[in-house]
Amino acid sequence: MLAVIPAVDENDLSAAFAIRRKVFCEEQGVAIDADLDGLDADATHLLALWNDAPVGTLRWRILEGSGEAKVERVAVLPAERHRGIGQALMRAALDAIARKAPRAIRLNAQTHVVGFYEVLGFCPEGPVFEEEGIPHRRMRLPLP
Ligand SMILES: CC(C)(COP(=O)(O)OP(=O)(O)OC[C@H]1O[C@@H](n2cnc3c(N)ncnc32)[C@H](O)[C@@H]1OP(=O)(O)O)[C@@H](O)C(=O)NCCC(=O)NCCS
Repeated sequence: MLAVIPAVDENDLSAAFAIRRKVFCEEQGVAIDADLDGLDADATHLLALWNDAPVGTLRWRILEGSGEAKVERVAVLPAERHRGIGQALMRAALDAIARKAPRAIRLNAQTHVVGFYEVLGFCPEGPVFEEEGIPHRRMRLPLP
C-alpha cells in the first residue's frame, strides 16, 4: 500500500536523503555537495512509503520575492518506478503548495522526464540548459 507523508522527524528526513543519494548521486552521478545544497532546512520534504518502506521523496519551497513555489529533488528508487509513486508524490506536493496560494509552481525538469510533469499540467519554458551535467528544461504550472 502506498502512503505519502511529510518527512518531519530525523528518521524520515534521513530516509528521504538516502533515497536522493541513491538516485541522484549513485545513479545519476551528481556530487553529494550539489545534492545537499544547504536549502533543505527551508524546504518541506515528502516521503513515499510502499508497505511502510521508504521508496520516494521530493522537496518543495516558496521562493522569496517571486511569489512562486519550486519543486525539487523528485526521486523514486529504480526498482519501484512506473507504479504511480512519482505522480502520487507530485499530487501531494501540489495539494500542499496550493494551500500556500503561490502564483505558480516551477521546477527544472531533466529533459527525459518532461512528459512526467506535463501530465500534471506543467509547461516547458525556454531553452535546454545543463545543471550538474544533466540537460534540464524549466517548467511552470500557473495557479488560479
Ligand atoms: C521521474 C521519476 C520520479 C518518476 O517516478 P515514477 O514513480 O516512475 O513515476 P510514475 O509511475 O508515478 O509516473 C510515470 C508516468 O508519468 C508519465 N510519464 C510520461 N513521460 C514520462 C517519463 N519520461 N518518465 C516517467 N514518467 C513519464 C507516464 O504517464 C508514466 O506512466 P507509465 O509509468 O505507466 O508509463 C523517476 O523515474 C525517477 O526517480 N527518476 C530519476 C530521478 C529523476 O530524474 N528525477 C526527476 C528530476 S527532474
